[in-house]
Amino acid sequence: MERPTVYITRLLPQPVLDAISQQYRMLTEPTDRPPTEKELLHGFAEAQAVICTLTDRIDAVVLSHATKLKIIANYAVGYNNIDLAAAAQRGIIVTNTPDVLTDATADLTWALLLALTRRVVEGDTWVRTGHWPGWTPTQMLGADVSGKTLGIIGMGRIGQAVAQRAAGFQMPVIYAGRRSVSGPPGVSWIWRTHDEVLAESDFISLHVPLTEATRHLIDRRRLSLMRPTAFLINTSRGPVIDEAALISALEAHTIAGAGLDVYEQEPVVPARLMSLPNVVLLPHLGSATLETRVCMGLICLDNIAAVLGGRPAPNRVTKI
Ligand code: DGY
Repeated sequence: MERPTVYITRLLPQPVLDAISQQYRMLTEPTDRPPTEKELLHGFAEAQAVICTLTDRIDAVVLSHATKLKIIANYAVGYNNIDLAAAAQRGIIVTNTPDVLTDATADLTWALLLALTRRVVEGDTWVRTGHWPGWTPTQMLGADVSGKTLGIIGMGRIGQAVAQRAAGFQMPVIYAGRRSVSGPPGVSWIWRTHDEVLAESDFISLHVPLTEATRHLIDRRRLSLMRPTAFLINTSRGPVIDEAALISALEAHTIAGAGLDVYEQEPVVPARLMSLPNVVLLPHLGSATLETRVCMGLICLDNIAAVLGGRPAPNRVTKI
């Protein structure tokens, strides 16, 4: 019997490619660049299963070519890149990769928070360029982290993992989310409105999915609620922040700084943002560890095996 065809839009870690090629026919050799429109349409037309990434926009036009397709396994926890309604209309199942990237993303959130407040990137550059004149008492002073208030917007899996790590820094946690969530024994996480979290926190970390309701959730008005000493961290999706409003707030020092892993128009990062000293900018590294990226690929494969085998997909998504 002929093996089902899987189209992969991007190069994935080798253990994932090995696992795919053991069970399926790979439509084309995946590459480390985004597919052209022609390649994408061809892939969707030919395959029974697709593994795509958050940079592939899967809209009704792409899906209109997908006559044999049974499943789109999105290689990400977020799936705002896929038109779910159009997929459902064609009976195509969409899946994501939750859980396995929770720790990697929470760890990176803390890496950004600490790098930003302790000026790690600036310090590294100073040493490497040979400009460091030696220790002085007033040099490169950052802000304390321990004991300060951490505010989390979006208290799902990743938000909670970020909050759990705050216990090690003796930080009170306040959060805004759809429902009340209990912290681990002995730790209290306090449920607040979005505006209260912004006004009362020293660090605000965003962990909401991108939907029409969360696009520009952090706008000019909400940024104006933040303390001038507060820092904003975003490892969720760029459009959750109104980037132009953020740049103005950073330039005017109405907030202390921002640590960003995601941007409104990736990979474009505004020159004004790049010129600011009070930001740390990462290239969307949230889930970027080898272990995590392998697990994400294996989850895609589990979902494909289930759907092509006539079983329910373990990670089916139906709405944002
Ligand atoms: C996701 O899975 O949504 C992440 O942004 C990928 O790094």
